[in-house]
Amino acid sequence: MAKSSSTFVCQSCGNVTSKWAGKCEACGGWNTITEEGAAPPLGNNAGPRKRGRRIALEDLKTVDKEPPRRITGTAEFDRVAGGGLVPGSALLIGGDPGVGKSTLILQALASYANKGGHAVYISGEEAMAQVRLRAARMGLSEAKVALGAATNVEDILTTLESQPAPGIIAIDSIQTIWTSALEAAPGTIAQVRTASFDLVRYAKASGAALLLVGHVTKDGQIAGPKAVEHLVDAVLYFEGERGHHFRILRAVKNRFGATDEIGVFEMTGAGLSQVANPSALFLGDRHSNAPGNAVFAGMEGTRPLLVEIQALVAAPAYGTPRRAVVGWESSRLAMILAVLDARGGLGMGGHDVYLNVAGGLKVGEPAADLAAAAALISSFTGRALPKDTVYFGEISLSGDVRPGPQAELRLKEAAKLGFTRAVVPTGTKADGVGLALHPISDVAELAQFAGGARGPGPVAVVK
Ligand code: TYD
Ligand code: MG
Repeated sequence: MAKSSSTFVCQSCGNVTSKWAGKCEACGGWNTITEEGAAPPLGNNAGPRKRGRRIALEDLKTVDKEPPRRITGTAEFDRVAGGGLVPGSALLIGGDPGVGKSTLILQALASYANKGGHAVYISGEEAMAQVRLRAARMGLSEAKVALGAATNVEDILTTLESQPAPGIIAIDSIQTIWTSALEAAPGTIAQVRTASFDLVRYAKASGAALLLVGHVTKDGQIAGPKAVEHLVDAVLYFEGERGHHFRILRAVKNRFGATDEIGVFEMTGAGLSQVANPSALFLGDRHSNAPGNAVFAGMEGTRPLLVEIQALVAAPAYGTPRRAVVGWESSRLAMILAVLDARGGLGMGGHDVYLNVAGGLKVGEPAADLAAAAALISSFTGRALPKDTVYFGEISLSGDVRPGPQAELRLKEAAKLGFTRAVVPTGTKADGVGLALHPISDVAELAQFAGGARGPGPVAVVK
């Protein structure tokens, strides 16, 4: 038998060591290592192997009939999950504490129950009264969601197995669930993994769709959702900036659907409301005609999304110029500034440069380059860009502008929201979108359009 002694496990990356240390060697995290009782040995290396059950091996060709998805009725949630929840699957919803995970889950369960489904909500964090209070605030008190408060996974499984399997079972949150099979404290990696594993196994056996809620932790004091990502079929992250009322549900892993989908919600006084037209939300009221604002025709997954990129280029307040970016990569900003200087003759190197993506959204697409560059030039030259124009295209180090994917979808969205003109990479084809295209091939041409030699006045529109 293996000697049973305790081990030290990094709560951030799961690295196991025999000694405690202040810094984890594997991931470099500080103060993330805690002592845990030895996990039961994996496999049966000690002693003779127990006889197992024979499993059927089949060929790849066999087509299993796809089971019907369980539609919760919260449309944005269903879409990000890949078109509803798959029976027997496990889905993890991660996010910062307070972002609205419990609210989202309760809303999805209530809409599922209202459609006649059997939904169970197990709260490990909040007392029943608190959950009821939230339901009342959201106007969902009448929904037939079976509510329970428990943290012990054996209690939960005994309860579930004593009744017909629910269509959807939600556990809020995995970090509070523990199994009496282990000595480690609740919230440690060993506990979170073992308890999640037991729940996933129940889901597979019973056909219930399992929703696990997981808090993202920065300091690694409790095991984060990363510890169970490999156990589940889909991982969704619920994101939102403090001070902004909108929330984004993003798929980062999905065995049953696309991973670049997002769902947009708005946190209101009575729960989350779904935002069917996110562009209108992110663009907000654009009254100001100040220099430095450009609208980027972006894509989030399969959906077009228009966002405003704001730039401020100012004389430096102190000796060293400052750079600050919100919602975009700072290395990308440095690159664009260098290209504008080297290829467009616009030396902003000595200036303070601030760049902000309005609404608190994070933009990761390279196609945002053109809009960011246009905003920078506009602020630098002090000339406002035309209000009715959108931009998209990637800028290369040579200063050339490269076409981005899905031009037509982006332009259609822009036309829908009242824009009449688009500055796009040369060669972009989009017929019949009802938008005048202004193709440009390099940053020098952009500089000319956005306030350089000719200023932003009416340009020759090339259809
Ligand atoms: P919650 O779902 O408890 O977050 P999580 O489970 O991710 O920790 O939501 C917490 C925040 O949402 C809280 O600060 C209050 C706010 N909220 C509203 O603004 N409106 C509502 O209707 C509800 C239920 C919550
Ligand atoms: Mg919660």
